[in-house]
Amino acid sequence: MIAIGSDHGGFALKEFICNYLEQKGLEIKDFGCFSEESVDYAPIAAQVAKMVASKQAERGILICSTGLGICMVANKVKGIRAAVCSDLYSAEMTRRHNDANILCMGGKIVNESKAAELVDIFLSTEFEGGRHQRRVDQIAQIENEE
Ligand code: RB5
Repeated sequence: MIAIGSDHGGFALKEFICNYLEQKGLEIKDFGCFSEESVDYAPIAAQVAKMVASKQAERGILICSTGLGICMVANKVKGIRAAVCSDLYSAEMTRRHNDANILCMGGKIVNESKAAELVDIFLSTEFEGGRHQRRVDQIAQIENEE
């Protein structure tokens, strides 16, 4: 299952991505928002991040205007490795090397077709493990020092 959420700045793109994933037969859980009315992104990002951190969702997708604020919030939740991507190379590499579990995008940065490509790569690329596992473990260790 894929958990997804946005604020008003990412609402239109979130709706597109929800339809895109449903048409592909993927199960999604939509945490809102549900209109273009202004909302705060932090509570929505936290809900999605907690679904992923608790393994109730396999991956997450978060969208605000830039992808930045929503990514900052997600990365505050233990176990989350969220990455803002607007290019395909980053979307692939953050899976292969960082084992990223949440993809963040900017609704004012990427168009629908680019977002669909980013989501496809993010969801289909496997983590490489090996020396990258050690580095991901170091991220977790720093998190546990807090
Ligand atoms: C909302 O205006 C905007 O600040 C938000 O969508 C996001 O881009 C914040 O990082």
